[in-house]
Amino acid sequence: MSRPDRQHSVWGRVPRPAYGADYNPEQWDAATRKDDVRLMREAGVNLVSLGVFAWSWIEPRRDAFDFSGLDEAVELLHASGIAVDLATPTAAPPLWFSHAHPESLPVTADGRRLAPGSRQAYCPSSPLYRERAATVTRRLAERYGDHPAVVMWHVNNEYANGNAHCWCETSATAFRTLLRTTYGDDLDALNHRWGTGVWGMTYSDWSQVTPPRTSTSRLPPALWLDFYRFSDAEHLACFRAERDIVRAHSPGRPVTTNFMASALRWSDYWRWAREVDIVSNDHYLGSEDPHRAAELAFAADLTRGLAGGRPWLLMEHSTSGVQWQPRNIAKVPGEMARNTLTHLARGADGALFFQWRQSAYGPEKWHSAMLPHGGEDTRVLREARDLGNAVSRLADVAGSTCPPATIALLLDYEAMWALELPDRPSSDLTCGDALRTWHRALWTAGLGCDIVAAPAPALDPASAPASGAHRLLLVPSLYALSAATARALEAYAESGGHLVVGPFSGVVDPDDRVHPGPYPGALRDLVGLTVDEYLPLAAGAAVGLDDGSTGNVWAERVVPDAGTEVECRFTDGPAAGGPAVLRRGNVRYLATRPDVPSLLRLLPRWAAQAGCAPAPRGSGDGVEVIRRSGPSGERSWLFAVNHTPSTAHVAATGTDLLSGARTTGVIAVPAGEVAVVEEGGTGPR
Ligand code: GLA
Repeated sequence: MSRPDRQHSVWGRVPRPAYGADYNPEQWDAATRKDDVRLMREAGVNLVSLGVFAWSWIEPRRDAFDFSGLDEAVELLHASGIAVDLATPTAAPPLWFSHAHPESLPVTADGRRLAPGSRQAYCPSSPLYRERAATVTRRLAERYGDHPAVVMWHVNNEYANGNAHCWCETSATAFRTLLRTTYGDDLDALNHRWGTGVWGMTYSDWSQVTPPRTSTSRLPPALWLDFYRFSDAEHLACFRAERDIVRAHSPGRPVTTNFMASALRWSDYWRWAREVDIVSNDHYLGSEDPHRAAELAFAADLTRGLAGGRPWLLMEHSTSGVQWQPRNIAKVPGEMARNTLTHLARGADGALFFQWRQSAYGPEKWHSAMLPHGGEDTRVLREARDLGNAVSRLADVAGSTCPPATIALLLDYEAMWALELPDRPSSDLTCGDALRTWHRALWTAGLGCDIVAAPAPALDPASAPASGAHRLLLVPSLYALSAATARALEAYAESGGHLVVGPFSGVVDPDDRVHPGPYPGALRDLVGLTVDEYLPLAAGAAVGLDDGSTGNVWAERVVPDAGTEVECRFTDGPAAGGPAVLRRGNVRYLATRPDVPSLLRLLPRWAAQAGCAPAPRGSGDGVEVIRRSGPSGERSWLFAVNHTPSTAHVAATGTDLLSGARTTGVIAVPAGEVAVVEEGGTGPR
């Protein structure tokens, strides 16, 4: 039987499941490098990201390219059968460049130009930077574009991590150019949209328009939002330029850049996802996060959503401790494997670590790696070898997908930017918290979900709206939205979709201007109510609901329209006696933020009413059960991930690919372990 999507796959010759790490041979001598590939093979490594920060290694002085080290590394890896995900090194401009062109360095909002000396030291709008980035990219692509070891390309590294925005003069000029296009060269239009009449800050000449630099007091929120859009577009332009050079010289090899989907907020990854051949993500769990398993599921679900449900790649995670966290807490035995297999369960076709060999010097020497300082006989390397072996048994799973869930959770980056600006009614009301809380409740209730973009107002085939498969669309937080997007949500509900809208949604347009009429302007007709007053709660305060639920952060004084049903009321707090949960047909509105225990009661009920078939992808008892299947469902694999300290019993019939054991009816998954059962069949294979 063939593997699910092997033919004509965008993945080309990328080994799947991919297993490996960032590899930094420039930190090591020749003997160590030889040892590296030997140990990589023993650990089952089949793909490494090479050269991520190697610009000064390959171009130590302007135009003086020296590829000898990289050539040797590529050949060494190739000879050992390890494929290369070759990086353009443009996240780390060399010092010769930064010192020759200090105007390429980023400038902070208060006008300080950052000093060279670390990575990400560039302004994305700098033509000088872009020119040198294009040159080094071209030289790399010409040299290695058809090298058989190079199976994919890794452009830059975590765009907008560390230099998300730049306030320099070059940025100011580029920002103005973009604005002149956006506003049809009409300064009055810009003044109107930004509301500059407030405090008399009306622009009378384009030259007065600058990025939102530190000033005496607040700046127009719409200026911030356009600036965020501008910064994101500039980083994306850098990516596109390098990608196109690579594509021209290296056809047939997928190009990616590593996202930080659940950690970074400055990239509208829905846009970025359309630009990469393979969606890849970096994910670092907070070692002290009490909800680590749910957070892992959130990151993986989000990345799968960005990939449009197609397989994706975990480009980086950690084998153990992470040095930039306050305490470098080690993963417990088995945790690395469990985390890795959880990502695979949720649609990843491979998992790589940062990094292969733990640095002996530099800022990241206390970051874990596959090969620790202690060398060959260390717990982490032993576990990495076992994991390599386990991953290699999942070859047939690669290319399969998680069937669409019936529940979708909406994430809109621009609405998040708008909600999290200063001068909002409550600094506790963040978008990220709401999404995670709702996702965690679904996960705990054992309800799978997909994370989706806001439905596109026009027919935009590239966007990823809730599809017909999604019977229930959850919108925990959507402060800013256009009237057109609101209409798209109406269309979703009119077509029979069930919708749940969280508080303080539909309030402003994409310029942060309050929609006309009573709240929630853009969604008023859809939800069938008006909000008389928004009532933020004091820090740590909670409100009771008459169904036993608890809300926090927020309450609203709501007046239902005729025909809108009040499902439950506040029992105390500033809106005591008033509606807390309302329903109009298949649309619900919440006037507070229910806590997780409350959502745990509410969401399964609403899911059942929406006719969502139970498709478990998480479980309150700490055992996740997730299915991946081939395109026509002819083959399927059940991942059972046991996060608990005792053996779990999961219904499954088939062969556990990890242990080789045949199971009929129920499989016992030991504490902390994972089973991957190829379903079906009747006897041992
Ligand atoms: C990021 C970077 C890596 C490395 C890791 C350490 O994700 O991409 O180069 O610095 O963090 O956690």
